[in-house]
Amino acid sequence: MKSSAYTRVALNRELHLYYKEYLNRSPAANLKATVRGSRATRARLNAEALLLMGFDAPHSVLWGKLPGAGEYLFTVAAPGEPVDRWLRETVAARDPAQLQRRRQLLHSLGTYIGRMHASGIIHGDLRPGNILAALMQDQFRFTLMNNERNSRRVPTPGRLLLRNLIQLNMLPLADLGRTDRMRFFRAWRRQMRELSAVEAKILAAESYRRALRRLPTKPPASDSAPTVEGPGSPR
Ligand SMILES: Nc1ncnc2c1ncn2[C@@H]1O[C@H](COP(=O)(O)OP(=O)(O)O)[C@@H](O)[C@H]1O
Ligand SMILES: [Mg+2]
Repeated sequence: MKSSAYTRVALNRELHLYYKEYLNRSPAANLKATVRGSRATRARLNAEALLLMGFDAPHSVLWGKLPGAGEYLFTVAAPGEPVDRWLRETVAARDPAQLQRRRQLLHSLGTYIGRMHASGIIHGDLRPGNILAALMQDQFRFTLMNNERNSRRVPTPGRLLLRNLIQLNMLPLADLGRTDRMRFFRAWRRQMRELSAVEAKILAAESYRRALRRLPTKPPASDSAPTVEGPGSPR
């Protein structure tokens, strides 16, 4: 499976199990792990905390240490497809049925993430690829992946909410337009009772602005040859 640096992810389709290896990073990271708990342990405990609070996260079934300083964790395969794929492929057509489904997805996701934030949970890496969405009995069900760096802060500092909203906004405009972003945001906002109108406005505008600034200006053409830019070329 595609995964980030220092992790390896594999799926056993017959057993419906995901296997994730947390590889050794650096002596400093290992030292941090002895203080704060290893990444695998935090992924497991943070997922359990989410489940206890009524948010879906992968269920852990088996874990342990690898030779060296790495660790592994088996989780039950959660249903659904990542939200970025939903928006880019599954509900991307302009026919009424897909448009309605798309709005339902954005509204449900906004409510879900709003509930999570209202309960003080900040996700460590809330990019749309880390949220699985499954349609079940006409309702969306979400599962939060990559819970290694989640935290809980009540009251939640605005900068942490902003960070999560920027991560969520990390989609090209072609995949998620401005009106759709506002659909998500309005549902999110309804769950955030404590937020003043001014704070909400700033969060919406800043998360949008900063995410778009970080995205590459031109989406890579998927059917073209790889570009010849060197690693140091400016974006
Ligand atoms: N329990 C699971 N259920 C469903 N999909 C999973 C599960 N674990 C991992 N995946 C899939 O593998 C991908 C990579 O796993 P993830 O935990 O996000 O690793 P990384 O830290 O490399 O991003 C996820 O985005 C998801 O698509
Ligand atoms: Mg991930």
